[in-house]
Amino acid sequence: MALPTETVYGLAGDARSPEALSRIYAVKGRPTNHPVIVHLPDADFLDQWAADVPAWARSLANALWPGPLTLIVPRGSDVLDAVCGGQPTVGLRVPAHPLTLDVLRAFGDGLAAPSANRYGQVSPTTAQHVLDELGDVLDDSRDLVLDGGRCPVGVESTIIGAWDDSPRLLRAGLVTAHQVAELTGRRVSLITDGVRTPGSTAAHYSPRARVIPVEPSELTTIATDVGMRFGLIAPHDVPPPPVHHERLASPRDDVEYAHSLYAALRAADDAGLTVVVAVLPTDTGVGHAVRDRLMRAAAREVSP
Ligand code: TXA
Ligand code: MG
Repeated sequence: MALPTETVYGLAGDARSPEALSRIYAVKGRPTNHPVIVHLPDADFLDQWAADVPAWARSLANALWPGPLTLIVPRGSDVLDAVCGGQPTVGLRVPAHPLTLDVLRAFGDGLAAPSANRYGQVSPTTAQHVLDELGDVLDDSRDLVLDGGRCPVGVESTIIGAWDDSPRLLRAGLVTAHQVAELTGRRVSLITDGVRTPGSTAAHYSPRARVIPVEPSELTTIATDVGMRFGLIAPHDVPPPPVHHERLASPRDDVEYAHSLYAALRAADDAGLTVVVAVLPTDTGVGHAVRDRLMRAAAREVSP
């Protein structure tokens, strides 16, 4: 079933069931060696899924769950290979969405849920986006799409590697490296030691339209060079360039930018626009994650 979370919609199934996992992979069209995040009802479930959770990671979970933080921890002995992509770790999080927390509590165990989009595409932030992405492969008789409204955060959870003494930022999100450093009293490393996190290494999050990320000072020059009508995403205080374009979003701050980003990219595709110029937000708070997603959307080719 597709479920709302505070970040993006997920495609969920029993994380203890090989059949459920293979169906998730099939529906997404995702290579089977890519790990999925297991969503838990609460932090007390950590030890049913993980072995040797570092104390700093446990306190981080207690401080921020439910919330947009995924911890990559050493996997418990009975966690399926299909969940971990064959790696010695498992990704865990407690999502902060009332509907999905109800589902998780009623289910009483972990639900594996990657973002409910086709592999490499833009993550869905509404139930309608899920239907637009996956409607033709979902089976009406058994697949449910739970409509929990528009996801408040709008970009995927922050992923922190938590298998030793040092927190590693594997994917940026609303929870910042600075916050993790403050809460753990540890330096957050950007070195990932070759850990495979597809959403962070490959080009990802791409609409059909070509995305051109620009700094505010470059907007007029680049917009003039595009040479055709394009979609524009820009903070509200960025003046429109003097060429024909369609404004897709005018976020007032970095939080609103994250909230509206994926819907704006989808709106570009729906409007048949082939180019989107996106003025990058400042590199603070969740603006860091927005910049990251825009740069990856611009990279286009999904590497293996
Ligand atoms: O906000 C989110 O995290 C959303 C919602 C639905 O919870 N989920 C999401 O899942 O973005 P997905 O599968 O689209 O992205 C999860 C990322 C992938 O890049 C995956 O490689 C990484 O998490 N990941 C999961 N388990 C991992 C592990 N054991 N080691 C390294 N990376 C892992
Ligand atoms: Mg994804």
